[in-house]
Amino acid sequence: MTESVSWTSYVDTRAQVEHERLTLLQEVFDPFSAQLLDRVGVAPGWQCLEIGAGAGSVARMLADRAGPGNVTATDMSTDFLEPLASSGIRVMYHDVTVDEPPGEFDLIHSRFVLEHLTRREEALRRMASWLKPGGWLVVECGAPAPELASDPVVGRALTAMAAMMSRLVGTNPTWARRLPLPLEDAGLVDCTAEAHVVPTRGGAPMARWLAATNRLVEEPAVDSGAATADEMATAYAAYADPSYVDYTWLTVAAMGRRAD
Ligand SMILES: C[S@@+](CC[C@H](N)C(=O)[O-])C[C@H]1O[C@@H](n2cnc3c(N)ncnc32)[C@H](O)[C@@H]1O
Repeated sequence: MTESVSWTSYVDTRAQVEHERLTLLQEVFDPFSAQLLDRVGVAPGWQCLEIGAGAGSVARMLADRAGPGNVTATDMSTDFLEPLASSGIRVMYHDVTVDEPPGEFDLIHSRFVLEHLTRREEALRRMASWLKPGGWLVVECGAPAPELASDPVVGRALTAMAAMMSRLVGTNPTWARRLPLPLEDAGLVDCTAEAHVVPTRGGAPMARWLAATNRLVEEPAVDSGAATADEMATAYAAYADPSYVDYTWLTVAAMGRRAD
């Protein structure tokens, strides 16, 4: 079944500007992802699956730990992943919501994917079913927190961004706050979750990534009246100003394992 709204139908996943946005995302969030992989104990020989691999940095981290031949990187847009194939990583076009299981794994990870899927609970159950007994599922999801914004105009721009992503992509901006319950509902055991907050400092990668993500939906946000052009301009100015610092984005990570 084709979704009426989805990430790949809205975002130009082959554009250079999207590659730059994903590169910023990786720079900001890879250190936390690396900690999670190390905590789970990914080791040589583990069969690993990275779902919605984007520009591929987490798949590379998995390859460093498990060996490239043991890593599968999937996405519905694989252009940015092609360089991984030459290092021995298996790169696959794969829709997590409908396609056949890509194998059985000791570790399955996804970052900033489930919240964008309209059938996210079903996708999570599918992911859990691809684990070997004892295998770990680690998911990271974003939850914008405009209510925490100290500058109300920046808060309104963030609210507009979340509303537009919801309308145009199908994103649920608050679903991450239910973690780890969806992992428990999917039958996993030893489930835990935690939130991580990176400061948004003007000019730094986190602020540049938020600005780039805002730009993805700026036109429809202004056209629909969700935010004014002046409010967007104020938010961009803050995101470029090193004297601006705030904490308005939660990344919630949850992990659980399939019973032995
Ligand atoms: C926000 S990006 C995150 C990229 C990467 N996970 C990261 O954190 O660096 C979301 C990614 O999920 C992919 N995606 C969206 N829907 C998907 C689906 N149904 N199955 C597999 N991948 C999907 C997109 O193509 C995109 O690469």
